[in-house]
Amino acid sequence: MRIAIGITGASGAIYARRLLERLHGGRHELHVTLTDYGKLVWQDELGENFRHWMETMDWSGEGGNSRMVVHSVNDLFAEPSWGMKKFDAYLVVPCSAKTMSSIACGIADNLVTRFGDVALKEKRPLVLLLREAPLHELHLERSLALARAGAIVLPASPGFYLKPKTLDDLVEFMVDKVLSYLPEPIPGPEK
Ligand SMILES: Cc1cc2nc3c(=O)[nH]c(=O)nc-3n(C[C@H](O)[C@H](O)[C@H](O)COP(=O)(O)O)c2cc1C
Repeated sequence: MRIAIGITGASGAIYARRLLERLHGGRHELHVTLTDYGKLVWQDELGENFRHWMETMDWSGEGGNSRMVVHSVNDLFAEPSWGMKKFDAYLVVPCSAKTMSSIACGIADNLVTRFGDVALKEKRPLVLLLREAPLHELHLERSLALARAGAIVLPASPGFYLKPKTLDDLVEFMVDKVLSYLPEPIPGPEK
């Protein structure tokens, strides 16, 4: 699959890292972009720079692995920005209230908000793993507008019915949810 992934400055960089790990072995083409705060929160919460982490894995697309292309968030010439360049899904993980609100208002001023706009206009899968609490009235109104426009607004709120024992279990729960909206199944995590 061809998947666009935006990583924003909401808390929960660990969700983005696990999402990429889960997609690593699948021969996918991943187009990834981090907002400025996406990079800062990744560094703050995971204690390492996104680029350094990325270099610990093979993202060349060879040997059965997925290929990752990292775009500048300011590059609106990048492929996810174009409606004519079809992606199977557009994921924002984690999604800040700011990016969610921008997409809801059609403010397509960076690559993440632009690809959100593209997904909505082209009627393609758009999943926003929204992380903010509490949600005020405008967040709720904008989330409703997005849901009506076809987006999946997925609160980063793991369930406890699978009896999670570790932080990784909670993260896996949310990442599984995100992956469940892709048009093709993704294998479960290695145990
Ligand atoms: C450590 C840290 C944690 C943050 N956590 C959240 C959060 O959970 N949800 C949120 O909506 N914004 C959060 N923010 C604020 C966003 O980073 C800020 O609104 C930023 O402008 C979002 O821009 P972006 O969507 O372009 O990344 C956080 C900021 C920092 C520094």
